[in-house]
Amino acid sequence: MESVNQYLDENAQRFESEFFDFLKIPSVSTVPSHADDVQKAAEWLANRLTQIGLQPEIVKTKRHPLVYAETPAVPNAPIVLIYGHFDVQPPDPLDLWISPPFEPTVRDGSVYARGATDDKGQLLTHVYAAEAILKAIHPLPFQIKFLFEGEEEDGSDSISEYVKVFKEKLACDCLIVSDCEMFAPGQPAIIYGLRGIMAFELTLTGACRDLHSGVFGGAVYNPAVALCQMLNKVIDENGRVQIPGFYKDVVLIPDRERKQFADLPFDEKEFFEKIGVAKGFGEKGFTSIEQRWARPTFDINGLTSGYQGEGSKTVLPSKASAKFTFRLVPKQNPEEIAKNVEQYLQSVCPPEIKMELEFQHGAGGLLVSLDSEFVEIATAALEETFGCPPFFTREGGSIPIITEMSEVLDADVLLIGWGLDDDNLHAPNEKFSLACFHRGIKASARLMEEIARRQKGKKV
Ligand code: BES
Ligand code: MN
Ligand code: MN
Repeated sequence: MESVNQYLDENAQRFESEFFDFLKIPSVSTVPSHADDVQKAAEWLANRLTQIGLQPEIVKTKRHPLVYAETPAVPNAPIVLIYGHFDVQPPDPLDLWISPPFEPTVRDGSVYARGATDDKGQLLTHVYAAEAILKAIHPLPFQIKFLFEGEEEDGSDSISEYVKVFKEKLACDCLIVSDCEMFAPGQPAIIYGLRGIMAFELTLTGACRDLHSGVFGGAVYNPAVALCQMLNKVIDENGRVQIPGFYKDVVLIPDRERKQFADLPFDEKEFFEKIGVAKGFGEKGFTSIEQRWARPTFDINGLTSGYQGEGSKTVLPSKASAKFTFRLVPKQNPEEIAKNVEQYLQSVCPPEIKMELEFQHGAGGLLVSLDSEFVEIATAALEETFGCPPFFTREGGSIPIITEMSEVLDADVLLIGWGLDDDNLHAPNEKFSLACFHRGIKASARLMEEIARRQKGKKV
């Protein structure tokens, strides 16, 4: 191991500067004008994989490309598939960034840029770990496959199709993903659950054009008012979602798990203080960890209607719209819930208002078994690298394609995150701690080295 760690230390500077080049590419998948940048990020990544001796393919899809590469196949040996995404969220609102989102800047040991933690930095940890391992161990006694997508922040449609068509090519024993968080600084985690998600956009139309709110107000239904009234009926003040049947398949959190959550060294007061909130809100009878990791919920992500500029304007808008998401827990059925959402909103929509509901994307939650050799190996690798054993946690975020890949490929899943809860993912001033970056690389290398060691042991 000494030589692998030595190699990683000697190359640490180069890893950072390459990582920063990757961050300069504004690969925003949801904004069509950035499609070329997503392509550039794919090319950058393919080029990196070429540098470590692989022959990557850039797979064209209906939308954004995928990058695939593999080390040589080894009969009767395990295959691990490393997943990550090289697309990023839009950087808006731009004026809140301390340094520009695509000009990576180091402050206090962290690099600030859009995509730093989600997911460019985390993804690269495995590429650099593989670089070191491929230099140190040859032939490698197991196979590594890499599958990176450019569409995670926009529903993962392309990779979903690819995985179904190429399931033999992608066959693996374990899916390794770092697109999530550690438990706390210096304290690693193995994550065994993620929430699912359903995203919608609701558009309401009243009159055929904007109107003077004095001349028409009081006699014409205002779609912005209707939108507030309708959304107000989706979740109550106790945090309970009002869609009929919404909780039908929700599995109660087992007592044993509730106790495990409660035993985690987690300071709720500090958690809320750090985000400027005096007190939490949510479904009664559950702790904030339970609410975020193991209970479903509803959130409005964007509201648009009427005049948004400076000063006042007495307008009665013709349209109002909202973007919203439900977070789901395992066993809840996204398609069934989508139908109920549509029916419910129709039933509470005033007859004077025209309603359109677009279902953008959906995926169920994930709960993986901890009873796997890879979890055992990762536990040891994390403990060795971080000097303390990992926590076993769930997370509230969603990586829709992982649920699908684990089913289609029938593989174990190993979710090991290197992010921190103040990394500002999806927000201004996203960052990634460089200590986490280098530790992540070392932990991944340790993991791969242990898989190799056990394989060699088997042959003797
Ligand atoms: N990496 C995140 C998900 C995540 C964040 C998992 C933190 C665990 C901890 C991923 O890129 C993401 O943002 N997913 C989206 C869903 C997607 C369909 C837009 C999400 O969770 O909102
Ligand atoms: Mn991500
Ligand atoms: Mn994300």
